[in-house]
Amino acid sequence: MKTRITEMLGIEHPIIQGGMHYVGFAELAAAVSNAGGLGIITGLTQGTPEKLANEIRRCKEMTDKPIGVNLTFLPSLAAPDYPGLVKAIIDGGVTIVETAGRNPAQVLPYLKDAGIKIIHKCTSVRHSLKAQDIGCDAVSVDGFECGGHPGEDDIPNMILLPRAADELEIPFVASGGMADARSLVASLAMGADGMNMGTRFIATKEAPVHDNVKQAIIAATELDTRLVMRPLRNTERVLSNSAVERLLEKERSLGSKLTFEDIKDEVAGIYPKVMLDGCMDSGAWSCGLVAGLINDIPTCRELINAIMSDAEEIIRRRLENMLGGKV
Ligand SMILES: Cc1cc2nc3c(=O)[nH]c(=O)nc-3n(C[C@H](O)[C@H](O)[C@H](O)COP(=O)(O)O)c2cc1C
Repeated sequence: MKTRITEMLGIEHPIIQGGMHYVGFAELAAAVSNAGGLGIITGLTQGTPEKLANEIRRCKEMTDKPIGVNLTFLPSLAAPDYPGLVKAIIDGGVTIVETAGRNPAQVLPYLKDAGIKIIHKCTSVRHSLKAQDIGCDAVSVDGFECGGHPGEDDIPNMILLPRAADELEIPFVASGGMADARSLVASLAMGADGMNMGTRFIATKEAPVHDNVKQAIIAATELDTRLVMRPLRNTERVLSNSAVERLLEKERSLGSKLTFEDIKDEVAGIYPKVMLDGCMDSGAWSCGLVAGLINDIPTCRELINAIMSDAEEIIRRRLENMLGGKV
């Protein structure tokens, strides 16, 4: 299958693995890229330019296909060394960067000068248009279903994707709630050029996270995620657990008095404990509604191959048959 995204990024299938804190290590990114998608290393998990340079090197030893690096711009007290991380990306020969969070204008000129394609991930049509205006090459449109930060507008992809298609000129991929061939074909039908998956890629053989995390995703239904930090306008969709329920109780009881300090125990420094140690009740960790559609732990190649062949089946048989009058 060819789309504007496969052509722009030089990949075989229009499937991207979104950056994920403490999940997007070299092993997963290489496995996704080797399977014909685009694998992405999460820059801030590495933290320093030296460590990111090393992770890019490790990934390139495992694949000769294009890989990307995610750069997330979050409000934080101690800002990461973004210029250093950008230099590590450029020097490492990475050709694609996924930006997320704040407007990436500060790093754009350096990335563009190096010929790097920039996919900005955002949760609204107005932010997508802004990304297009400042020169991003593509957008990843993250609907309300998504694991992680869905923004504050709460617009699901059934509305967000056709709205993005109506307004954008640059290519975009559908993100949030994507799991299988049905997601891909529906996204293409709504005007997207491919899809980005987060949660689905955690439950794969190569995702270098504790098995407890994969089992938790398989056990979860679409009713098991919660939205936390809404009062701080930093909403995150996470899997429910005892720490998350405690956090929500604090949000309810403190109301408008809530500050980040009040919930620090449930949200700060949680990812290594969950993803590496498998301590599932340590705190809040991102997970999409799509957990309700995930029931197995395939390899990335099995997952991507199944998506592409099932998509062909849907398009050539199910939809063609309907057009041909067969039910
Ligand atoms: C565990 C986890 C960690 C994530 N960490 C990041 C991150 O550090 N930066 C980022 O831009 N997006 C992050 N995301 C969002 C994903 O890249 C992707 O946009 C999202 O998962 C798509 O929704 P889905 O989970 O329904 O597929 C994370 C998602 C998950 C599930």
